[in-house]
Amino acid sequence: MRILTDPAEVAAEARARRARGQRVGFVPTMGFLHAGHCSLMDLCRPRCDWLVVSIYVNPLQFGPTEDLERYPRDPEGDARQCEEHGVDAIFMPPRLYDPDHSTTVRVAELQDGLCGAARPGHFDGVTTVVARLFGLVQPEVAVFGEKDYQQLAVIRRMVRDLAMPVEVLGGPLVRDADGLALSSRNTYLSPAERARALSLHRALHRMRAVAAETDDVDVILTEGRALLDVDRLDYLEVRDGDDLRPLGRLRPSARAFVAGLVGRTRLIDNLGLAASP
Ligand code: PAJ
Repeated sequence: MRILTDPAEVAAEARARRARGQRVGFVPTMGFLHAGHCSLMDLCRPRCDWLVVSIYVNPLQFGPTEDLERYPRDPEGDARQCEEHGVDAIFMPPRLYDPDHSTTVRVAELQDGLCGAARPGHFDGVTTVVARLFGLVQPEVAVFGEKDYQQLAVIRRMVRDLAMPVEVLGGPLVRDADGLALSSRNTYLSPAERARALSLHRALHRMRAVAAETDDVDVILTEGRALLDVDRLDYLEVRDGDDLRPLGRLRPSARAFVAGLVGRTRLIDNLGLAASP
């Protein structure tokens, strides 16, 4: 496994691979890798010849009061996990943008609600970095997790709208044994906070159970809200899982979305409301 730090080098290597007829696969991350990230590598591995994982804590997607400075890092642990999951190259640039970088990629509408409303500018930062990473790595296939469901939708839209020649795959959300959605930010949680963080998952499960009895979204939301134990609720919503439009009545594609602060840690989760395993 190679570790590449120079954007020009990863671009040259990707070009050389493609010239030899190889398929390039790509999993972008911000590091501090866990089983959720690794599941995306496993999904991508059989679909490509050269698998690249990027590790870059992207300043553009953090708000001024967010955790950019304290975002957890573990380059050795990350390298070990990448190696174990058959990654060919880690791209971890110390700097990714030119000093006079001046382009922002913005996907309208899809990013307006949910995390976009709670974190102004966040998705502009995500789409801008992913567009730049796609330009450097030139992947045929790229994998993103359903943990960040809105992010996946926004990236799919960007790729379609800008006719980027990349296939975007979504990987299922990976949870801990107790149901907590895996996240690099879980490392911030004290044991007591972690116990309260489970209320997100419990609320979503309760909503799915209620959804089997009624198609009234207000009733479903009220039941879910009652179980939440967060310090600040950013949103609890039911939306269409395909186009993210808010729903008043349940439909088969309905999905519940939640985000909030437990202590100082912002957590998100989501769950399809149709009965499934
Ligand atoms: P990061 O939070 O490191 O996540 C990288 C990828 O892993 C994303 O596609 C995310 O959805 C996925 N992921 C995280 N936790 C997961 C889980 N529990 N189950 C399944 N997939 C999970 O998302 C980002 O980084 C950044 O916004 C990025 C796309 C890299 C752009 O900077």
